[in-house]
Amino acid sequence: MSETAAKKVLLGVSGGIAAYKACEVLRGLQKAGCDVRVMMTEDATRFVGEVTFEALSGHAVATSLYGFKESSIPHIMLSEWADLIVVVPATGNVMAKMVAGLADDLMSATLLAAASPVLVAPAMNVRMWTNPATQANLETLRQRGVQFVMPTEGRLACGDVGTGKLADVDDIVSAALALLEGSAVPQAVVKDEAAKVQTVEVEGTPLGILEALRAAAAASGGAIVVEEPVRDLEGWNFLITAGPTHEAIDPVRFIANASTGKMGYTIARRAAERGAHVTIVSGPVSIPAPDGVEVVRVTSAAEMYDAATSRFGHGVDCAICTAAVADYTPKRPADHKLKKGIERIDVIELVETKDILAALSAAKGSGQVVVGFAAETNDLIAYAQAKLAKKGCDLIVANDVSRADSTFGADTSRISFVSADGVENLDTMPLEQVADAILDRVCTIMVA
Ligand code: CTP
Repeated sequence: MSETAAKKVLLGVSGGIAAYKACEVLRGLQKAGCDVRVMMTEDATRFVGEVTFEALSGHAVATSLYGFKESSIPHIMLSEWADLIVVVPATGNVMAKMVAGLADDLMSATLLAAASPVLVAPAMNVRMWTNPATQANLETLRQRGVQFVMPTEGRLACGDVGTGKLADVDDIVSAALALLEGSAVPQAVVKDEAAKVQTVEVEGTPLGILEALRAAAAASGGAIVVEEPVRDLEGWNFLITAGPTHEAIDPVRFIANASTGKMGYTIARRAAERGAHVTIVSGPVSIPAPDGVEVVRVTSAAEMYDAATSRFGHGVDCAICTAAVADYTPKRPADHKLKKGIERIDVIELVETKDILAALSAAKGSGQVVVGFAAETNDLIAYAQAKLAKKGCDLIVANDVSRADSTFGADTSRISFVSADGVENLDTMPLEQVADAILDRVCTIMVA
């Protein structure tokens, strides 16, 4: 009999399509000698009947704070009984309730009363998983000591492709067994996108310490992977326009738009972190300058045009026009504050601004790459293709700003690359990954 014999595992099943996988996890734990009880949310019972878990576990299944055959206070009885609680699958809702400390049903009350380690295996739609709310909940729960078996990438029940698929049953079982034995969850099963970008600064780290860390990680079934920061853009010079422009009506009034500058600043930060020399020509935004990036602050479309075009010739390898430049500006801005009822401000005569992206595309020499953006609310690809042709740039990054996960100010974006080579649609991703995907794409154009 193994060391985990008769260890008591409380399996929490919440309402997602992956609930059926909890049956296999239950079986895997039993095979390893564990006694498994099951608690379910009410929604979970719509996916798999409690009778199934009752038959598999040999115990009554708890689904409610009331009417449980074995105890009148099931959340306390179960939390005291368990040596480990494993939540498979954990929905975004269950994670959020854990963070908030809610106890309005059996599952959340038992988790709040937990007296044992808790292992969580999330499964949900990719946008729900990458939503900053879920990612922040993940971080909070990790800081509180909750262990995770991270979801993997693949085709999800809703048809989307991305991260959100329940981890392999074997990985969940082995993580549970490791926790029951008092070991760390193997690194192979906690690896996730965030882990990929974590870097360890090795400069100046005594090799002996590194070797000791490696040995300690290996002893607990994990691994320390030391990745040096990727500096693949070293020697390249980027010019990025970002933010809105303000077009003066008079000294206190202006025409503006909803751009926050987040996309441009994130691209600039990642390009600098990847070794590039970066200049942002920025309209009025409230974002601080990224480390190591030169920021040229402008207000109007005309100032942005002058700042960008005058810098483009000087060794710039790539210009990325993320700015939401005003297309029109008041023809005759007043030099004093216009007075209501005395002066006419109901009609403002506008003139078209100069197109920076088109000017840079027309001026670009051999080896220079120019990238534009198309923020649209409808007919995304058709408009992006028209912009590619009209502006003469190498690549258009199209995003549908009518979507909440891709609109101005969002922390995620869903983009498509539109170029002479065709159209490539990407999943919704956090802005940092979107920035990297754009820079990767620019790299392939620059070295082509
Ligand atoms: N752009 C620019 N200078 C302008 C207007 C737009 O550099 N005066 C750039 C933007 O930075 C973006 C691209 O052109 O990279 C597309 O901008 P957008 O406002 O979507 O397109 P417009 O050409 O202005 O067309 P419309 O507003 O009709 O969609």
